[in-house]
Amino acid sequence: MANKNLTAAKRAKNDEFYTQYHDIEKEINAYIEYNPDVFRGKTILLPCDDPEWSNFTKFFAQNFERFGLKKLISTSYAANSKKYKSGYQPTLFEVNDPQYDEYKTKQNGKIFTLDHDKSGDGRIDVDDLEWHYLDGDGDFKSDEIKKLRNEADVIITNPPFSLFRDFLAWVLEDPKQFIIISNMNAITYKEVFPLIKENRIWLGAGKNDGRNVWYQVPDNYNNFHKEEDGKKFAFVAGTIWLANIDHGRRHQPLQLMPERDVIKYGTKEPFRKYENYDAIEVPQVKYIPSDYDGLMGVPISFLSKYCPEQFEIIGSSRTLGIPMSKIAKKGTFVQGGPRFYLSNGDGTYRRMYDRLVIKKRTL
Ligand SMILES: C[S@@+](CC[C@H](N)C(=O)[O-])C[C@H]1O[C@@H](n2cnc3c(N)ncnc32)[C@H](O)[C@@H]1O
Repeated sequence: MANKNLTAAKRAKNDEFYTQYHDIEKEINAYIEYNPDVFRGKTILLPCDDPEWSNFTKFFAQNFERFGLKKLISTSYAANSKKYKSGYQPTLFEVNDPQYDEYKTKQNGKIFTLDHDKSGDGRIDVDDLEWHYLDGDGDFKSDEIKKLRNEADVIITNPPFSLFRDFLAWVLEDPKQFIIISNMNAITYKEVFPLIKENRIWLGAGKNDGRNVWYQVPDNYNNFHKEEDGKKFAFVAGTIWLANIDHGRRHQPLQLMPERDVIKYGTKEPFRKYENYDAIEVPQVKYIPSDYDGLMGVPISFLSKYCPEQFEIIGSSRTLGIPMSKIAKKGTFVQGGPRFYLSNGDGTYRRMYDRLVIKKRTL
């Protein structure tokens, strides 16, 4: 139990990681480049935000007119409800506002909306945001936020990772267009993988290559990795964006070599077949042979390069591999959940990392 609590606390710390402006800008611009009208006339909801200083709110408010938005709604989670206590202090902006309430500032969530030129300066931007306290704490699962979800056309955020499964289910409950931050691990979740396989959701356009992405963390967070201008930052490996809005990157086919050249210049040895599934093992995405017509097992990082016109996803090694216990003697292979295995050539078998099975499309 103590361990369970510790893991929960550790996970909750990552719930307070804040996305940097340039990461949001780079990702969202990819959808705009593909379709300049992608958000035109739409209501965007940014739940699980902290609108006073969230870069999501700032970015969409600043680009309200360029994107042709109908309405922007951004909501935050009450300080007292957060699992990770970050020594909450209301901003001066809030304290100086006549609406300021000493109790509600900790107990209630907030809502910021933008849909007209409040300041009268002739444009709709960040200065026109209006706010008030929510009735509840801003929990995305509450009826109050669900109502906002139902009103919105598009949901965009970096949700609390410890609640990622619940959050995705919430987005899909009343199917919405969405762009959300996630982690590579989520790809293998049973709630996520089938949707990717069916091309109902896909990886976004931004950094999906498993490299570190930097997030701003609360001032009292001790495990930060760098400090700049008095702000603390921590990195997370394996950040990805998940979306069901189209972008150009996913329609660019991978440039690959034919099997003969991969063997000659890359692997230096012929492709091998798994012992418990009829597919070849491709150890790296760049070694996928362009002219192989059969089934291929590839690392899950393939998804960041996946072009649905080029390949079809057949499934994953978590469900496709025949259990080794049915084909090999106990003690000859490492156990631990369904995976693919390669022979070591001495009667023992090597367990592979998660693999996706893909097949070339015949155009
Ligand atoms: C990873 S942070 C990201 C914040 C912001 N969207 C960003 O990217 O800068 C997730 C936020 O969700 C909040 N949160 C945690 N549980 C929540 C819940 N049940 N409902 C709504 N927000 C929640 C956290 O307190 C945190 O502020």
